[in-house]
Amino acid sequence: MKKEPGKPRVVTTKTVTTMKQTGEKITMLTAYDFLVAKYLDQVGIDIILVGDSLGNVVHGYATTLPVTVDDMIYHAKAVKRAVRNALIVVDMPFMSFQSSTDDAIRNAGRIMKEVGVGAVKLEGGSYIAEIVKHLVKIGIPVMGHLGLTPQAINKFGTYEVRAQTKEEGDELLHDAKVLAEAGVFAIVLEKIPSDLAKRVTKAVRVPTIGIGAGPHCDGQVLVVYDMLGLTEEFKPRFVRRYAELAETMRTPFRGYISDVRTGRFPTGKESYWPWPGQRGPASGKKTGATPPGFGPVARHSI
Ligand code: KIV
Repeated sequence: MKKEPGKPRVVTTKTVTTMKQTGEKITMLTAYDFLVAKYLDQVGIDIILVGDSLGNVVHGYATTLPVTVDDMIYHAKAVKRAVRNALIVVDMPFMSFQSSTDDAIRNAGRIMKEVGVGAVKLEGGSYIAEIVKHLVKIGIPVMGHLGLTPQAINKFGTYEVRAQTKEEGDELLHDAKVLAEAGVFAIVLEKIPSDLAKRVTKAVRVPTIGIGAGPHCDGQVLVVYDMLGLTEEFKPRFVRRYAELAETMRTPFRGYISDVRTGRFPTGKESYWPWPGQRGPASGKKTGATPPGFGPVARHSI
């Protein structure tokens, strides 16, 4: 179904396939929590990826390797509660699928069953084709991921552009064809030369979604904290910063610290100091507010 302007559309793996056929660009961003997912969904993002990049940007690990299936499920559940329309895809973390098809089925099954998302994403080439086939056969849609695959960082030793030689490019193209044949519904292409991404995009019937792979892919993905400028030291050329939230956050944090230290916060207006039935000099109104320690105050009470 083509997107009608202003109307939300429930995105499925089938929608994504159709988008490639009709030439409609696919938009994907990561989210790891309820509020970011809610805002992405509100503005009509097609796919929300609960990426294992959460290991880096949320948990502060140096690589994605320590991330567990339980971590992914915890974050994906928060995302799922917020989303009405976008397709949610969850990364299978390192060693949750590589060891055996049984492990892959058990862990992907847990993600699908416990969270209720639309698909999982697996990093890797032809060597995971059998696993992909099994998952797809039992009804678990799979997104592939080629090029820079951060779970293999210890094999490569760097985060440099991948597949820069003709042989490596041909191998990646072959991997993409094998994955498509095995049944993936889309393939992420990370940090590869733009002309190679173009070749892959032309060669496979499934959509390609690029990150640092140039403009010829069928869609684009970025890590949301990168495009918001929260990961300010991370500046690869493929990240376009749509905001500078690190400084946007530090400024109010400094303001708060200064206001508390100098006694400018809170004011009478920002306090519930009058007891129920009493008139508060700050507002002159009855507040009826419960004094601290006299019952729960709901998060949304004002
Ligand atoms: O984990 C992640 O966020 C990803 C994207 C970079 C594609 O895999």
